[in-house]
Amino acid sequence: MKTVVLTTLSLIVLALIGAAAFVYSGVFNVAAAEPHSAFVYSVLQTARIRSIKARAAGIVVPDGYDTEPKIVGAVGHFVEHCATCHGAPGTKPAEFAKGMNPRPPDLKRVKDRYTPAELFWIVKNGIKMTGMPSMADDGDPMLWATVGLLERLPSMTDKDFNDLWMQAQAQAKGGRGMQMDRMDMHGAGGSDSEKQHKP
Ligand code: HEC
Repeated sequence: MKTVVLTTLSLIVLALIGAAAFVYSGVFNVAAAEPHSAFVYSVLQTARIRSIKARAAGIVVPDGYDTEPKIVGAVGHFVEHCATCHGAPGTKPAEFAKGMNPRPPDLKRVKDRYTPAELFWIVKNGIKMTGMPSMADDGDPMLWATVGLLERLPSMTDKDFNDLWMQAQAQAKGGRGMQMDRMDMHGAGGSDSEKQHKP
């Protein structure tokens, strides 16, 4: 019995020394330009998906979060806060997003991968160590409307999106005189949209 305990303890100490040596030696490459190994990638993917599912499990989806007026509000928010990284229908992401690792994915089909509660959790909390920011400051109603928009993306043409965006622009101009040319976002350095997005 004593031998078993001693052997187990020695193995734990060895594993800790090994882990410390790995961390301190700098052998792990944090360069964004270097892809993860298949093993690291699969561990990170699994941890991310399990974490999102576990945390979104208790979220109650509010009624009427995806009505037309709410979607219009969400389009303006999406163009300002999401499109530089993820792109939008008819708009490519900004150049810098290509150098990110992981690269921000196209969100057109994201609704097939996550439930509304999971999408809400992602947008509200962000995803650590990926560059996906938390948007909690924008308030739950706007974030639920954003979820409604994400769910409509598969059936939306570029023109549909642009029409909604024009409506959002007209409302924003009435409200706070915001000027922003959506087309400025192509690889833009220093457009209004870039200055306003959060990270
Ligand atoms: C600074 C860049 C950046 C901004 C701005 C940003 N994201 Fe992300 N987002 C990312 C990255 C990078 C990932 C990939 C995370 C990963 O692979 O784990 C991501 C992942 C996601 C995912 C999960 C996608 C999937 O397939 O797993 C969703 C949903 C999402 N973002 C929605 C949004 C929305 C909505 C906004 C705006 C409110 C937004 N993001 C703003 C960088 C960004």
